[in-house]
Amino acid sequence: MIDPAVWPLATGVDRAGRLRVGGADVVALADRLGTPLYVYDAATIRDAYRRYAAAFRAARPIRVSYAIKACALRGVASLLARADADASAASLGELLAAKRAGFAMARTQLHGNAKTDDELRAALRLGVGRIVIDGAEEIERLGRIVARRSTPQPVWLRVSPGIDADTHPHLRTGMLDSKFGAPIAGGDALAQCRAIVATKNLTLVGIHAHLGTQLHEPLRYRELGEALAELAGDIRASTGTALREIGVGGGLAIPLRSGDAVLDLLAYANEVTGPIRSVDALRKATIYLEPGRSLVGRAGVALYRVVGTKRVAGIRTFVSVDGGMGDNIRPALYGAEYTAVLADRPTAAPAEHVAIAGKYCESGDLLIRDVALPSPDPGEILAIPAAGAYSVAMASNYNHHPRPAVAIVENGRARVIRRRETHADIWRLER
Ligand SMILES: Cc1ncc(COP(=O)(O)O)c(C=O)c1O
Repeated sequence: MIDPAVWPLATGVDRAGRLRVGGADVVALADRLGTPLYVYDAATIRDAYRRYAAAFRAARPIRVSYAIKACALRGVASLLARADADASAASLGELLAAKRAGFAMARTQLHGNAKTDDELRAALRLGVGRIVIDGAEEIERLGRIVARRSTPQPVWLRVSPGIDADTHPHLRTGMLDSKFGAPIAGGDALAQCRAIVATKNLTLVGIHAHLGTQLHEPLRYRELGEALAELAGDIRASTGTALREIGVGGGLAIPLRSGDAVLDLLAYANEVTGPIRSVDALRKATIYLEPGRSLVGRAGVALYRVVGTKRVAGIRTFVSVDGGMGDNIRPALYGAEYTAVLADRPTAAPAEHVAIAGKYCESGDLLIRDVALPSPDPGEILAIPAAGAYSVAMASNYNHHPRPAVAIVENGRARVIRRRETHADIWRLER
């Protein structure tokens, strides 16, 4: 079944009964460009950005800062740069990727709980907009680095609000037991704000928190808005600094399968911004949103070729494909549950429940544990939707498998934005 909530915007089935994404016949694309192949629909990415801007209109001023870690490929990120997004980077490499994709450096934020002095210096040379300080030592180290500059560096402090989110433990970041952020509880966050304010050439302009990813409970976002608004008040009372910017992170869930729990964008906007806007001093502060998955996840479809089927009577049927955890580690890493169709007969009635097995030498390499499909024939193309975020971004060369090609589709035309890796690419750094 093609559930529009899970697939890119212009997904359909053509007269020949084959799957089309962004107007392109994906079986023909897989034949021409090889598999595994990731196909991103440009219109879906632009639409996701527009929806964010619209949902948060009443809460302006806001900035939507693309968490480029979700997919840092220039061909994908540049669509968001052109749409007027900021970019949120988790490393120097991602900052450079943002630059390549066309984001103005002044409109970037650099995160990281273990930024080295070299990375900080390089980011400053690039003209990074905001450094998001994460750790007491970083205040001192960054302070030393900027001490002799002629202009102060605007910074945020990443704080830990102590909110446990409704998601896989590996996807939670906002709870007290986290490596990220200065805890608000116990006063660490406030103490670090004081230290920043007392440091020459650092200007504390904002605070930031990120609860985790694949979240759908509205209450958690309200708690986040409340915690940040309260802390901003304490910072003002304690240091005299009126914050101009509040970063609320990202994390909005997207459905990977029909019926997956999600949070309506407008409800999310109201929950997270309501408590901030209800504080007089924060009415004009810019609220920074940092979505990754919800901007690019739905746009991406992964295409694999079926290699064979193994039936274990009474237990499970394994359908093996030519990709797996090396191009999408999310099922193995934190139990992401996808759906799939056979691209040349996406509406055919299912005949059995199968597991989709990857080709990597790990028992945990199952792309899908259970999906109802017509019995797949070797050579058929299997399409997995909602695969645009944290898939190719986390790709590896495990088993020395080359990483997949990536294409963008628009108006029926496909453009390769990352060629398929070769074995020579994998070996090129070895001496
Ligand atoms: C600091 C920060 N901001 C934003 C995001 C984006 O989250 P998501 O892709 O779930 O929107 C992440 C992802 O983990 C993050 O670590």
